[in-house]
Amino acid sequence: MSNRIAVVPGSFDPPTLGHLDIIRRAAGLYDELHVLVVHNPDKEGMLPSALRLRLLEQSIEEAGIKGKVIVGVWTVGLLVDYAQQVGAGVLIKGIRSQLDVSYETPMAVVNNHLTGVETVFLLANPANSVVSSSLVRQVAGLGGDVSPYVPPAVVRYLEQSTPSDF
Ligand code: PNS
Repeated sequence: MSNRIAVVPGSFDPPTLGHLDIIRRAAGLYDELHVLVVHNPDKEGMLPSALRLRLLEQSIEEAGIKGKVIVGVWTVGLLVDYAQQVGAGVLIKGIRSQLDVSYETPMAVVNNHLTGVETVFLLANPANSVVSSSLVRQVAGLGGDVSPYVPPAVVRYLEQSTPSDF
């Protein structure tokens, strides 16, 4: 496992500007960054995984994010299994508030016990501190404008979908 290879996991349902900011900054810190759409058993999804992956790929490309960024999907097994498979020694989590720290800390401890992988918390840009995929789903589902919170590729996708899809 290399500490120069990192994974940014998430539901990305849909990707937000907060996610993109974390991805951009993490891509600048590591030699290789895996952005991984992970099935979260605690959350009922809005978008199919393949669509989340496509929106992430488009958003990363359109944002001109530099560095070696690989986008993937992980639906079966532990997140740490993926990390081991690609030789990543680091997981990256974006932190907006104390709530995120409370949610992420047990997972970071367990993941470290499982394989020794380290978790690095990157503090979200304060401009993104209220941005979440669940908020975007709710606003979009009620017909509101989510363009301040999501990348253009997601805006385009949501515009050609009907609100009842979310
Ligand atoms: O965007 P989200 O929903 O906050 O992302 C949460 C996610 C997918 C990163 C989290 O649920 C996760 O790490 N899942 C991996 C499942 C796993 O390996 N669990 C056991 C150890 S914690």
